[in-house]
Amino acid sequence: MATIVPGSATQSLAAALAAADCGSLTIPTYERFADGETLAAVPEFDDEEAIIVASTVDNDAHIELLQLQDAVREAGATHVTTVIPYLGYGRQDAAFTHGQPVSARAVARAISTGTDRVVLVDTHEPGVADFFDVPTTTVTAAGQLATPLGDLDEPLFVAPDAGAIGLAEATRDAYGDGGTDYFEKDRDYETGAVEITPSDAAVEGRDVVLVDDIIATGGTMSGAIEALHERDVGRVYACCVHPVLAGAARTKLAAAGVERVIGTDTLERAVSEVSVAPAVADALTDAVADEPTQG
Ligand code: R5P
Repeated sequence: MATIVPGSATQSLAAALAAADCGSLTIPTYERFADGETLAAVPEFDDEEAIIVASTVDNDAHIELLQLQDAVREAGATHVTTVIPYLGYGRQDAAFTHGQPVSARAVARAISTGTDRVVLVDTHEPGVADFFDVPTTTVTAAGQLATPLGDLDEPLFVAPDAGAIGLAEATRDAYGDGGTDYFEKDRDYETGAVEITPSDAAVEGRDVVLVDDIIATGGTMSGAIEALHERDVGRVYACCVHPVLAGAARTKLAAAGVERVIGTDTLERAVSEVSVAPAVADALTDAVADEPTQG
C-alpha cells in the first residue's frame, strides 16, 4: 500500500483517494517564511511508494509540489506517482506570439524530474500530457458532472465554446437525456473581454446545462448565461471540471442568472459537489496493474 501525500490545495481529494483504498494518508506540514518562501515537508513519511496529490492552482502550489516530490525521495521513496488534478498553466500550451514560453511544457518538465508517473484530469488540451517526460495518464470526470443535476425540462447540454463540446456530450451521455450544442467564443486578449455568439438551437423554455473544462474569471460562463437569458430559456446550470473561480467569478455567474454552479474537487471550492476520486483511483489501480512483476 502506497502513502498518499496531499498538497495543501487538494486535501479533500487526497482523503477520498485514501477512502478508496489507494493508500494511507500522511500529514505534511506547509510553512511560509518571512521572505515569502514556502516549505512543504513530510515528517511522518516512511514508505517506498508515494502518491502525491497536488493541484498546482497558483505559483506557490507549483513550488510546494516540487518540494513534496523531493521530500519523499529524501525520505526514502523509490517510486513516486504524481496526481495533478488541476494543472496550472495548462492553458499556456503554445507560444502564442514570438518570444513567449510554452509555460505548460516548462512546468511539465520540472514536475517530471521528481516523479515516475503522472496522472492528470481533463486538461485544457489533450496534448499537454505529451509535455511530461514520464508516463502520463489523463482521466476525465465529465460524466460525473451529471450526477447532481436532478430532473431537467427538455435539457440541452451546451459547450460555451467549440473546445468543450466533448465535455458537454459526455455530461449529456451520463445524464441519459437531451441534446448537445456549442456556442462560438471570441476573447479580446488585451482586455480579457469575452464575446459569446449563441447557436440557433431552440432554447426557449428548456433547461440548459453549460459545460466547460474551467471556470476561471467567469467571463466565458457569464457571457453564455446572459446570452441564454436573452432568449427566455428555462433554468441555466454552469458545470465545470475545474472551478478556479478567480476574483469575482462566482458573483458574475450569480448576476448573470445561473441556477446552480457545479464543479469537482480538483479544486476545493464551495461548488465542488462532485469527486474525481473514482476516475483517479481507476488510473492508479491501472498503474499498479501495469507494474512489471517478478515470476
Ligand atoms: C478556454 O477555452 C476554456 O475552455 C475556458 O472556457 C476558459 O478557460 C474559461 O475562462 P474564463 O472563466 O476566464 O472565461
